[in-house]
Amino acid sequence: MSRVVSAAALPFDVAAVLGDATEYVAPAAGRMARDALLAAAADADALITLLRDEVNDALLDAAPRLRIVANCAVGYDNVDVAACTRRGIAVTNTPGVLTEATADFAFALMLAAARRVVEGDAMVRGGTWTGWEPGQLLGVPVAGATLGIIGLGRIGQAVARRARGFDMTVLYAGPREVAAAGELGARRVTLAELWAASDFVSVCCPLDDSTHHIVDAAALAAMKPTAILVNTSRGPCVDEAALARALADGIIAGAGLDVYEREPDVDPGLRTSGRAVLAPHAGSATTTTRAKMAEICARAVRDALEGRRPETVVNPEIYA
Ligand code: DGY
Repeated sequence: MSRVVSAAALPFDVAAVLGDATEYVAPAAGRMARDALLAAAADADALITLLRDEVNDALLDAAPRLRIVANCAVGYDNVDVAACTRRGIAVTNTPGVLTEATADFAFALMLAAARRVVEGDAMVRGGTWTGWEPGQLLGVPVAGATLGIIGLGRIGQAVARRARGFDMTVLYAGPREVAAAGELGARRVTLAELWAASDFVSVCCPLDDSTHHIVDAAALAAMKPTAILVNTSRGPCVDEAALARALADGIIAGAGLDVYEREPDVDPGLRTSGRAVLAPHAGSATTTTRAKMAEICARAVRDALEGRRPETVVNPEIYA
């Protein structure tokens, strides 16, 4: 009997997809601590991992029977794919199903930071609001502004589609021209041009060596003092300490962040900044999206264990 271990309780009936011939092991609620995952991996044929589980040689060494790592996220920078490939282990992710939810969230953060929604909420709840005043809680306009998107992939394109509804000028930077850019009205520019021209910068690129700290102190200094930075991608794309300093020094006007360099830790300068809207990595957190992510993992595991190539495999060379 095959054994499938999930690092967390998933909001979907994974066991039903796997069938009776497969043993499914998952915590009743929450997630497994690292030690528990290492122990459970010992006789696992498949692992369903979270973006916070580092899938490295230590975990792979502890899992000699492993045939697939189904990462329950579109990003898989937590997985040493090369190490899995060397061992003939398939790696899968969950592309597509979280595009719209994450783009919605990028816009939510953009609007919340631009219009100071969280500060206003605190005023009302805290009883410090004394009524309407002309100069109260002034923010920056979103409609008609210029939006610079770093990475015009699936999520970047979905953000660009929303921006059209706000009559925004859309720029993007990335390693190559994107065919869909034309119909989205998005123009490719250099990073330097993007920093200088954007009222809003939305980070939508995957994390890799080329995008680590793509938003650093120099990039922040090159932005408009009225600019707002939004990150729904991966924390290490932004130099968090540099961002905290830039907000404190008024180098840029605000930030809307869903992801952090060392989750769940957040730079103290960001935690205390009134100009940062901070969300707990919730971009894909809708009921339907999280269920679909889990379902994709379940199907990928079933396919791999039954000898088929999973649709969302990211190292297809193992099937060559
Ligand atoms: C992902 O899928 O990579 C997100 O960060 C979490 O949904």
